[in-house]
Amino acid sequence: MSCWHYYAPSPSGEPAGDPCFTVDASSITFGRGALGEAGPALRAAGCRRVALFTDKVVSQTAWFPAVSASLRRAGIDAAVYDQVRIEPDEASFQAAAQFFREGGFDGVLSVGGGSVIDTAKAAALLGCHPAELARYLGPPLGAGEPVPGPLPPHIACPTTCGTGSECTGIAVCALPARRTKAGISHRLLRPTRALVDPLVTTTLPAAVVAASGFDVLCHALESYTARPHTRRPPPAAPELRPLSQGANPYSDIGCREALRLCGRYLLRALAADDLEAREQLLFAAMLAGIAFGNAGVHAPHGMAYAVAGGAHGVPIDGYPASGPLLPHGVSVILSAPAAFRFTAAACPERHLEAAALLGAEVGGAGPGDAGEVLSRHLLHLMAQGRQPQDLAAVGFAQADVPELVAAARLQRRLLDNAPRSIDDQALAGLFSAALRYSPPEPRPAGPGADSGAAHAV
Ligand SMILES: [Fe+2]
Repeated sequence: MSCWHYYAPSPSGEPAGDPCFTVDASSITFGRGALGEAGPALRAAGCRRVALFTDKVVSQTAWFPAVSASLRRAGIDAAVYDQVRIEPDEASFQAAAQFFREGGFDGVLSVGGGSVIDTAKAAALLGCHPAELARYLGPPLGAGEPVPGPLPPHIACPTTCGTGSECTGIAVCALPARRTKAGISHRLLRPTRALVDPLVTTTLPAAVVAASGFDVLCHALESYTARPHTRRPPPAAPELRPLSQGANPYSDIGCREALRLCGRYLLRALAADDLEAREQLLFAAMLAGIAFGNAGVHAPHGMAYAVAGGAHGVPIDGYPASGPLLPHGVSVILSAPAAFRFTAAACPERHLEAAALLGAEVGGAGPGDAGEVLSRHLLHLMAQGRQPQDLAAVGFAQADVPELVAAARLQRRLLDNAPRSIDDQALAGLFSAALRYSPPEPRPAGPGADSGAAHAV
């Protein structure tokens, strides 16, 4: 196992970290046609009548009837809730919970992107254990109370290739009044099973694949460079160990492979007819979801929640008008080059290894170059992937920085998972740096950036 020294105990004189990590394995079925297993999966979980959460766009796709047919064949009664809001907030979570509470359901099926799957998790939680959302949100935005008891079975069917929500116990909610987002995080929120079907990616616009693909890349990169679990405070009791427990050897395995697959296939997957690339990117999303579901993300996502909360509504090329003000993956990748340039000093070997896995030329680079090499390669991928190049390109200016800092400092769960301490001054520096990146120089492709034709899942 490489990088074992990353998990060395804290040096004497420093507070002792958590010597253990917990692996919460996800139950997943992956492959073309997996959606057709929705009915049998629910029946195996003991369900007879389920709430089917989706949105109006997904419910109109050509393959949605395949899910309905599978339910009918399995004798599962389902009621469809298609009012899921993109970028869900407390009101939309509570509306979904009311639907669940009043329907007499014994299970949950979610078919859609991260907003749909997160809404299904919240509907089950708030439907079974009614409360204001703040009871479950982590501090300082909420009381951080654990999920009080078991939730009904939840089969999750992702229809984008990014969020990884089908593999995590996290549900993210927009908090418009605070101009940020927040998450509920508990292992009982993790879906009972995920059905990951690459065929759903064939109907995705290139801009959606790009945004979700960069989200995948950041899930893997942030989990791989997160603070090691051995340098985080031990939990007060074993059952209170958080899902975001920091980098650990189990998550590292998925991160490395997800990064390698992103290096090979993310840009190729922008072509609608390249099903192989889209399938591999979806597999990378699943691996990264498992990884960050057990490690946690850090600064780029913490910054991104503030960026999304303060979005100026600048249109993103090719993105559906029905989408969010600023797609999640775009807000994350815009923050990433500045964040990783900053965090590289804490674990340069991991940043350099990640850059190589993503296809960067790292020959001759030393630890002092790691942050620059990785951030330049990210900018190169963003340019090739037709992403906005910095926060200025989506309407932000220096005058926005204090408000961005005020929103981002609320993301303590994420910021504390970064390998370096991040205070307000550091946040201001990171947002200022992300406002205007200089254009990347063309870099020769490394060994990870070949056609990828030889790899199969
Ligand atoms: Fe994400």
